[in-house]
Amino acid sequence: MYLTASRKPPSRKGSMHDVPNDLMKHIHELEEMFTIHTPKLLEIVSKFQEELVKGLSVAGGSIPMNPTWVIGYPTGDETGTYLALDMGGTNLRVCEVELPEEKGQYDIYQSKYRLPEEIKSGTGDQLFDYIAECVKQFLIANHECEDIKDLKELHLGFTFSYPCEQNAIDHGILQRWTKGFDIEGVEGHDVVPMFEAALERKGVPIKITALVNDTTGTLIASAYTDNTTRIGCIFGTGCNAAYMETIGCIPKLAHMNLDPNLEIAINCEWGAFDNEHFVLPRTPYDRHIDESSPRPGQQTFEKMVAGLYLGEIFRLALVDLYSNPDVKIFEKQDISALQLEYSLDSSFLAEIESDPWENLMETHALFEKKLKIDTTEPERKLIRRLAELIGTRAARLSACGVAAICKMKNIESCHVGADGSVFNKYPNFQERGAKALREIFGWGKTVRNDPIQIVPSEDGSGVGAALIAALTMKRIRKGIHAGVNVKRKNSLIPPIP
Ligand code: BGC
Repeated sequence: MYLTASRKPPSRKGSMHDVPNDLMKHIHELEEMFTIHTPKLLEIVSKFQEELVKGLSVAGGSIPMNPTWVIGYPTGDETGTYLALDMGGTNLRVCEVELPEEKGQYDIYQSKYRLPEEIKSGTGDQLFDYIAECVKQFLIANHECEDIKDLKELHLGFTFSYPCEQNAIDHGILQRWTKGFDIEGVEGHDVVPMFEAALERKGVPIKITALVNDTTGTLIASAYTDNTTRIGCIFGTGCNAAYMETIGCIPKLAHMNLDPNLEIAINCEWGAFDNEHFVLPRTPYDRHIDESSPRPGQQTFEKMVAGLYLGEIFRLALVDLYSNPDVKIFEKQDISALQLEYSLDSSFLAEIESDPWENLMETHALFEKKLKIDTTEPERKLIRRLAELIGTRAARLSACGVAAICKMKNIESCHVGADGSVFNKYPNFQERGAKALREIFGWGKTVRNDPIQIVPSEDGSGVGAALIAALTMKRIRKGIHAGVNVKRKNSLIPPIP
């Protein structure tokens, strides 16, 4: 017998022949609930495109389409040393980034800090004091000076990845918390003075030069090293995208009389897509997640695709099957650990999907260790299928957002720089998204390389934020003050003598 060479890594066969009929029936029900076929993908893309355009209009829509005041792409000539601070959903990262003379190069060193869970529902002062303290510790550790007060002034790109209405590049009003944050007294306020006050309390001498969304950072960092990049995306704890729009196509900025040919990065905040529930095929589990969240009715799209929610969708589906008297699953088992809200995260699903064994031994061990549940092999086959369905749905829906931006901008080929734990670590997420794009655009087998490809990005919240700070300083030095807040107490623009 000849063995043929395969380009793909071998995958598990995944036969369902030993799954009893009644369990198989429920697997089919789950498949029905979570599968999004091509016609539905197309319907979603078309609605998505409509909503993106609406977000740019004066009347607006549910997708905010926030102008960021990042004007144009980097040229590669940006130089200097900048601080970058990333306040993500789970971690806090402080970096120092050096942009040398060589085009497209950078050096970066960084420290990571865990964001304590209790901070996510504490007060604004607690949050910003904690962040300021981390920045202080970073500076003390990395700068050999007696007192950090003596440091020469450093400029900071602050990646704050929540929807902000940016009236200026170094200034942003938090529209609402996402990713499970619920801190009082910050929504509706400018986060920059709050953070500056905390830095002052801690005696940290830095200037916030730019407030950056992670997607904008990703777009700029990727474009810095790959000039075919047109979109930056994050598929992580939250989900979102940014792209460059020409001012002339943004009716809601018309009153500012800016050059219509200027390009400005738009932070879509597409997690809010379909808050009206027009088109997304929500399951009872999606509805439950929304209704019991701190912000019901918001981030409908995000709640179906982002890492924060994938484990919870999975958990709710299993609890529902267990409580159904017609389903024989986890019989005589204590499922109290499974009943704990948000006890499973997307890495749990990723591990199930990575189990290479035909009898899903690793899944058995995972359920035993994490949930104290001893699963049977047919149960594990249902579990694996459920994880695949949830992961696949997330990837296919994410591709809809990318396709909608490309269709709106008539982009026929480009790279989409992507980052985030789901994109980087969830098995098959990238391939599943690529397959959905092929279905949406109808690229047949004759198209050798997909014209639009979602590729791993450069470090958006590190080098991207530093580049945006550098672009801002470059603009100020040239005396171009559009998008820079002149009135702020710590304004970057020196007062006219
Ligand atoms: C936030 C966005 C962010 C995305 C990815 C969402 O929850 O609203 O601002 O870009 O998560 O981090």
